[in-house]
Amino acid sequence: MVFRLKERLAKRFEEEVQFFKGWQKDKKGVGAVVPTSIHTARRMAGVVNPRSGLPVLELGAGTGVITKAILARGVEPRQLVSVEYSRAFYDGLTQRFPGVDFRLGDAFQLDQVLSDRRGEQFDCVVSAVPLLSFPMEQRVDLLEDLLARIPAGRPVIQITYGPLSPVIKMPDRYVVSHYDFVVRNIPPAQLWTYRRAI
Ligand SMILES: C[S@@+](CC[C@H](N)C(=O)[O-])C[C@H]1O[C@@H](n2cnc3c(N)ncnc32)[C@H](O)[C@@H]1O
Repeated sequence: MVFRLKERLAKRFEEEVQFFKGWQKDKKGVGAVVPTSIHTARRMAGVVNPRSGLPVLELGAGTGVITKAILARGVEPRQLVSVEYSRAFYDGLTQRFPGVDFRLGDAFQLDQVLSDRRGEQFDCVVSAVPLLSFPMEQRVDLLEDLLARIPAGRPVIQITYGPLSPVIKMPDRYVVSHYDFVVRNIPPAQLWTYRRAI
């Protein structure tokens, strides 16, 4: 019991060190100082419908906290497509989660990154890409690209640390909803969902 706790703490420490190294190398691209908390990861993964029969798309997996929470919802590893920009994070993820379809590349170039799977529909999108590091026009383009890859009514869920939605409201094109404010996260996290306007 004590041994398992020690092992878990050591693993968590290792993840935080890995994350901090990633952040030091690319502050803008990583966007946060410590990994997403398990509480936030579970809230985000809560939007996944594991019975939809469709794969799930994750963006910006980092150390895999959210990946793990998505799998814990009952999603088969091969039904999770996960895009990560950093080679160091990608290498760690592929070792840690065998069977998940990890793609090394840029979420803003999804057709290229998804290649053979670019025509697929996904159940929903779970994103930790640090949108605030990118110009608004690019954020809107990404969101609309993502919404075209999921059925009407299904969400893109996005984590952010500012008080406002990281993507401006365009009610004629998509519906923006505040989903949660998670205090048990460093820093406290805001979660937003986006759905296609019907
Ligand atoms: C705030 S971190 C969150 C990571 C994860 N939730 C965790 O706790 O480990 C953002 C992640 O998005 C990745 N990222 C940044 N820009 C990206 C892009 N354009 N495409 C894909 N991933 C990107 C970063 O490399 C980093 O792993």
